[in-house]
Amino acid sequence: MPTAATSVDPRLDLFAEIDRLRRERKAVILAHYYQDPDIQDLADHLGDSLELAKRARDAKDAEVILFCGVHFMAETAKIVNPSKTVLIPDVTAGCSLAEQCPADQLRAWKHKHPDHVVVMYINCSAATKAESDVICTSSNAERVIRSIPADKPILFGPDKNLGAHLMKKLGRKMDLWPGACMVHETFSAQKIAALKARHPDAKFIAHPECEDHVLLLADYVGSTSKLLEFVKTDAGRKYIVGTETGILHTMHKAAPDKELIAVPYEDRTAACQGCNSCPHMKKNTVEKIYLALRDLQPRIEMPEAMRLRALKPLERMLALG
Ligand code: 13P
Ligand code: SF4
Repeated sequence: MPTAATSVDPRLDLFAEIDRLRRERKAVILAHYYQDPDIQDLADHLGDSLELAKRARDAKDAEVILFCGVHFMAETAKIVNPSKTVLIPDVTAGCSLAEQCPADQLRAWKHKHPDHVVVMYINCSAATKAESDVICTSSNAERVIRSIPADKPILFGPDKNLGAHLMKKLGRKMDLWPGACMVHETFSAQKIAALKARHPDAKFIAHPECEDHVLLLADYVGSTSKLLEFVKTDAGRKYIVGTETGILHTMHKAAPDKELIAVPYEDRTAACQGCNSCPHMKKNTVEKIYLALRDLQPRIEMPEAMRLRALKPLERMLALG
């Protein structure tokens, strides 16, 4: 029995078909910077998690939002814009951070700390968001934490590395959930230090999902969009890019005269083919985008009661600007 992905006529010009279908379906295609170059190039809008959540919320004229990213991102689009048909090219595109903090475990943690404010990184499921007080992304986390009165204790999850980075930067204690990104955790501080020694003119820029000993080597720390902006506007010429390699494509386009070096990683598993590449993000393909637009599947759906509970902490975040 052929799968949907093998039933595509190989003679089709998929890019032309996607353009035709996006017009016919009144679809807007959103893509994260960790997508394959072809997907980034065909998207209507590229962005980090916060920018894409806002694009989804503001997609008033579209009838369909095709989200080229991972599941929690497409879920977020549905939460903030429920009247649209929200599609994801591969519904199994998960996230190691989201998997590590299921809603029932967050509920049990909250139960032990009833006086705490629950701040959850957007990399979590809708069910987990529904248990949270406020959501943050890597680009607004500092603002979100600062918005919480100083005398209020905080539970922060699921990313312990982002949490530790925020505690250090803001001088504020928080209880951290022990989650981490499977991609950013493989970056090797030893190899980065060696690379910096070989390229003394290169700046090391890193995403806050990296571990502390990696961030200690960084000249600049920021979300994917902030890293992109830094490369575009900084006076330097060479950068070791401490995040998933997909973003190098758009960085090269935005700053063609600059030299970019992908971050070196530790081969922690025998199966690791390229640990600075997210296996979840890379599940989406041009063929699956075509199929999603053709069949209007796979769709993101969730119970309305859960959506409304997950919307509250997202709205609290979005209200902060
Ligand atoms: P940002 O693009 O918001 O920096 O997040 C990176 C990420 O974890 C995507 O999975
Ligand atoms: Fe999740 Fe890490 Fe992949 Fe981002 S890069 S989707 S945090 S596993």
